[in-house]
Amino acid sequence: MWKMIAAAFAAMLATASAAAQDYPTQSITIVVPFAAGGPTDTVARLVGEAMSKDLGQQVVIENVTGAGGTIGAARVANAEPDGYTLLLYHIGMATSATLYRNLPYDTLNAFDYVGLVNEVPMVVVARKDFEPTDFASLVDYVKANKDTVTYANAGIGSGSHLCGMLFMSTIGTQLTTVPYQGTGPAMTDLLGGQVDFMCDQTTNATNQIQTGAIKAYVTTAPKRIAALPEIPAAAELGQKEFEFGVWHGLYAPKGTPAPAPAIERLTASLQLALKDPVVLERFGALGATASTAEEATPAALKAKLEAEIARWKPLIEAAGVYAD
Ligand code: MLT
Repeated sequence: MWKMIAAAFAAMLATASAAAQDYPTQSITIVVPFAAGGPTDTVARLVGEAMSKDLGQQVVIENVTGAGGTIGAARVANAEPDGYTLLLYHIGMATSATLYRNLPYDTLNAFDYVGLVNEVPMVVVARKDFEPTDFASLVDYVKANKDTVTYANAGIGSGSHLCGMLFMSTIGTQLTTVPYQGTGPAMTDLLGGQVDFMCDQTTNATNQIQTGAIKAYVTTAPKRIAALPEIPAAAELGQKEFEFGVWHGLYAPKGTPAPAPAIERLTASLQLALKDPVVLERFGALGATASTAEEATPAALKAKLEAEIARWKPLIEAAGVYAD
């Protein structure tokens, strides 16, 4: 009897191991919780394309928008933990844990971690005929016209929302905010003059700034970025509190096959993707910094998420800005 049980158990382990070795055997979906054409989407498509080459399976990007990215995050939190549904989400994974007091998932227990992907500075940009010509005149103009100036963001919990919250607390003024499903569509309205200004990630704004299609005033990077050498960094203007990076992480639903062969395979593929020449060239041209192999690990992403939740919680509570 015991021999039969042992044989069955060995067969089960062998099957699991074989499945683990075969993973992936079908296309993988990366859920992007913001609209197509925005910075999160850009990062996901670049990294997804490189991972697809390594994994030998198609990587499909699915945009699931709304509520600052938390609707897409919820989709993955509730997905089958089979290694075929992933989430690429940025700093919003951390800030939404405080901003949304009724999140439909437990941020620190609903996901397995694949690894950190990159970090992207933000840049304050405006429609090209917006009157202010530099950051100082932008602050003065916005204060003087606070009832008419409009600020675009990608919903509470987005990077553009967080940057706007810091900007408004810096100038001590609340502004009319226009929410979008992502800064892709927000950029369309900025280019069309339907909205006055916003914070956007450099991955989305750099080309428009370089062509003069929009104005730029300051970046949230620690120093000037090569892609935008003429744009001052916040610290240069004495705005050190305005310095932060939008970091992106790749996640899977909690319980993705253990002993996590899918996670190990995905982490290795992500690390390879972050060395891909095309990915590195595009990241560099757009002001993004790829995570190192040490950062593109489950432990590093888990540590980053926990640290960022702790960092932003008091700032958000002090601002008293909640989504519900
Ligand atoms: C953000 O504001 O968080 C991002 O720009 C959202 C997006 O990728 O569209």
